[in-house]
Amino acid sequence: MNRHTLPGKATGRSVDEITQGRRLRRMRKADWSRRLVQENRLTVDDLIWPIFVIDGENRREEIAAMPGVYRMSIDLAVREAERAAGLGIPALATFPNVDLSLRDQTGSHILDADNVINRATRAIKAAVPQIGVITDAALDPFTSHGHDGILRDGIIVNDETVDQVAAAAVVQARNGADIIAPSDMMDGRIGAIREALDANGFQDVAIMSYATKFASAFYGPYREAVGTAGLLKGDKKTYYIDHANSDEAVREAEQDLAEGADMLMVKPGLPYLDIIRRLKDEFAMPTFAYQVSGEYAMIRAAAANGWIDGERAMLESLLAFKRAGCDGILTYFAPDVARLLKS
Ligand code: PBG
Repeated sequence: MNRHTLPGKATGRSVDEITQGRRLRRMRKADWSRRLVQENRLTVDDLIWPIFVIDGENRREEIAAMPGVYRMSIDLAVREAERAAGLGIPALATFPNVDLSLRDQTGSHILDADNVINRATRAIKAAVPQIGVITDAALDPFTSHGHDGILRDGIIVNDETVDQVAAAAVVQARNGADIIAPSDMMDGRIGAIREALDANGFQDVAIMSYATKFASAFYGPYREAVGTAGLLKGDKKTYYIDHANSDEAVREAEQDLAEGADMLMVKPGLPYLDIIRRLKDEFAMPTFAYQVSGEYAMIRAAAANGWIDGERAMLESLLAFKRAGCDGILTYFAPDVARLLKS
């Protein structure tokens, strides 16, 4: 009788009697057996890298609340895109920070074919055609009030915003965007974008819907990055989903798919793993998570204080998205992870 089969002091029964011989630790014993039974893996193919672009040349501005993330002028963004492609990162998502003088009540600058987003797409696709470029058709970086829609008498007007967003999507596609990812949560935007793209000959441009975007406190650092933090009055609860809700997220995703979305996104990420799993099980569609700025900032800040191992926390958080059912993750960690996975 070995040690483990001795009757326990408290129960009078041996561990083998209790477990009926099932010992889950057996496969955890060695590195080789842990690798053999590992269910999910994170690879570079899972990564989408969100970047911030600005006007000018050779400009790189640090974002205080996002250490290690920079706003970059287009020339530098192109260099980073080359590096990202070299690491095997499949796609970038671009976000602008434009001068205040270019922002107005309706976000009209989004329609300018020569705005910094469209110029960035052209430059990146010319230099690095093998990387996917994802553009956001939401108005918030272009409005004087920081909302994702047109604001009239204190109301974000839905249908007029949808027209503007669909027109912006066409301009972005015309300038080379591979995927349009509208993050504004207006009703009907996916259908309107699909129709507008098709009517203009962009049948092959895909739509990644920010289908379930929750009203969240985790977007703070992003608003600093795109310069909407100081502009925004009130909150976005009249258009983003209440973070208490889950069935509503399923209805949003269902609606967006019916209107023609090719991919679904859940945003923020880590606090919403339950939503990811529900959408994947329900729809079996390509499903993505956006590990947003606040999630990035939390890991970076805790790591900088020596409170957690930042590298391990980063990898653990990203693998959690895979386990929850994600096909990929938008993450500011993308280049760091890609480098780590390569080494
Ligand atoms: C708005 C938008 C947001 C993010 C990207 N586009 C949220 C917001 O400002 O309300 C957040 C991304 C992040 O936090 O990393 N359309």
